[in-house]
Amino acid sequence: MATQLERKEYDLTPLRESKLPIIWVLGGPGSGKGTQCDKIVAKYGFTHLSTGDLLRSEVQSGSGRGQKLNAIMEQGELVPLDAVLGLLAEAMLANVTSSKGFLIDGYPRELEQGLTFEKQISECTIILNFEVSPETMTKRLLHRAQTSGRVDDNEETIKKRLDTFSKHSKPVIEHFSNKCKTINAERDPTEIFKDIEACLDSLANINGF
Ligand code: AP5
Repeated sequence: MATQLERKEYDLTPLRESKLPIIWVLGGPGSGKGTQCDKIVAKYGFTHLSTGDLLRSEVQSGSGRGQKLNAIMEQGELVPLDAVLGLLAEAMLANVTSSKGFLIDGYPRELEQGLTFEKQISECTIILNFEVSPETMTKRLLHRAQTSGRVDDNEETIKKRLDTFSKHSKPVIEHFSNKCKTINAERDPTEIFKDIEACLDSLANINGF
């Protein structure tokens, strides 16, 4: 069935029929989502899709839509659901025939995003939720700001990103609590990854990936 996302028509049937594992990776700004996703891809070979990266590619394309998205990201706010889900669906469809499963980094950031994803695309298999204090996240992002060149890696926008995160994340975790694995991500990346391996290895025993 064709579904309308951000005014484009997509046939999402291949995604629904693929029955591939879908892992959502959640956590505040600078909680280490991207860092751990690189490790997960290296071990398990999933297709890594970061909504932040997809949005930044759209901005770099120079499209009118990209300019509007950039202005929202500079404010540390959430871009509209249709825009982010449209980019995500497009990227998933492009990879569905070769993928071993999808590692979706930075989505859903509010409950509506999660509910719409499951309604239109497919059920999520497991959620990895990284828990880190705002102080640690701020420290990491200010350090990264020295080299990242990101429009949102500055003190003022980091504060807004943390506010946005604290406003919207709790309902997502509560609603999907039965599939959510919360991980203490204050630690060294190698220690954090050991917990992730424990979650994914037990899932692999059930799902056979
Ligand atoms: P996005 O690009 O997703 O940014 P974010 O969520 O703020 O997260 P980051 O990419 O900054 O951090 P990360 O958790 O991946 O940490 P990383 O591994 O890089 O989103 C940007 C914007 O796009 C949003 O604000 C919003 O406007 C928009 N957007 C995106 N998705 C959206 C959605 N679904 N809906 C609506 N809008 C959306 O690590 C950070 C730093 O810490 C690095 O320097 C790293 O080396 C270091 N580090 C990582 N782990 C550790 C560790 N364990 N110990 C010490 N240092 C560490």
